[in-house]
Amino acid sequence: MPTLPNSMWSIVNDRVNSLPPAQIRAFDDEISAIPGLVKLTLGEPDFNVPDHVKRAAEKSIEDNDSHYSASRGTIELRQAISAYLQRTRGVSYDPEKEIIVTVGGTEAITATTFALLNPGDKVIVPTPIFSLYFPSVSLTGAEPVTVNTAAQGFLLTADRLEEELAKYGDQVKAVVLNYPNNPTGRTYSRAELTALAKVIKDHQLLAIVDEIYSELVYDQPFTSLASLVPDQTVLINGFSKSHAMTGYRLGYLAAPAEVVDQVSKMHSFMVTCANDTAQAAALEALTNGQDDPVEFRQHYQQRRDRLASAMRKMGFEIAVPDGAFYLFAKIPAKYGDDDFKFARELARKAKVGVIPGSAFGPGGEGHIRLSYAAADQNIDLAIDRLADFMKN
Ligand SMILES: Cc1ncc(COP(=O)(O)O)c(C=O)c1O
Repeated sequence: MPTLPNSMWSIVNDRVNSLPPAQIRAFDDEISAIPGLVKLTLGEPDFNVPDHVKRAAEKSIEDNDSHYSASRGTIELRQAISAYLQRTRGVSYDPEKEIIVTVGGTEAITATTFALLNPGDKVIVPTPIFSLYFPSVSLTGAEPVTVNTAAQGFLLTADRLEEELAKYGDQVKAVVLNYPNNPTGRTYSRAELTALAKVIKDHQLLAIVDEIYSELVYDQPFTSLASLVPDQTVLINGFSKSHAMTGYRLGYLAAPAEVVDQVSKMHSFMVTCANDTAQAAALEALTNGQDDPVEFRQHYQQRRDRLASAMRKMGFEIAVPDGAFYLFAKIPAKYGDDDFKFARELARKAKVGVIPGSAFGPGGEGHIRLSYAAADQNIDLAIDRLADFMKN
């Protein structure tokens, strides 16, 4: 087995070396060996990819659709994305100039931060949030300014954004918004977004808006920030959550052409283009699979209601679960606020796997995230086991 000589350890990149590995995966790996564990850990839909989408993928393979596509994605898929964004959000993006198809939302996030941020820039990151935002900002030499939103019901208010901007002034280049949010499930109303959009416009901030859960909003309509402040928004979305296509690794971003030109360079340096067959499948998902997420959403909503009501009865306080497929639950005071310790005990003693809230940044401490993108019988089993654990 090759081993890097100690004397050569300095070849590693200091910024990468200073970061811990992705905590969600690391915790999931740590507990996965526990026999009989029922896992509500990962944000991975348990549904299969819809059949008509699979057929489109098969056809693409049969048709020898096996070459590099245009770097920004096939024009047919970009046109379908443009039509989808127009239909669902009332926003207009030119498929030729203002859309890039990426390798998941993940690549859209990293390509955006690397193309737009400079060392020393500050980026406001309301927390708790999907943890990729911390390294994808800090690896560029920019600094994530975390804003703990726990006291505001896990939402960034316009006043709070103003307060943070007053502290840092012109050093702040961008703000990240992810809603419905991973891990809290919270989302913003149109009125809340309108107030935020005003601050974003007044201070000429770039808004990096992650809408990957936009098809999974339960009790209210979804409003895109891009419909309020299109000239300053990078809209990120993908197919992992809407069409259960996590393994196809397909996402996209839409933004003003000047921004897209820069992000497009990073995208081609990193991946050249997204996978052809996945793009054919995504085209089918957008053209003939508009109702696929509706069916998923109905199942998720039933699971959410069952799990939330059972957990409230057990004494957990739960963030209002407006969307996505997570519950973010406050650990009852008598168990202390060490969420890693609580999640480890839950895994070991009750055989229920959840993610400790502090993996998602400040404000997540003392909480656990449960993913209800899991089979019904696993949710029922988890409820029974949690109830026993909390009683004893
Ligand atoms: C908020 C958020 N953004 C982006 C992603 C990345 O998704 P993907 O790269 O599978 O499109 C995830 C995955 O869990 C997420 O929760």
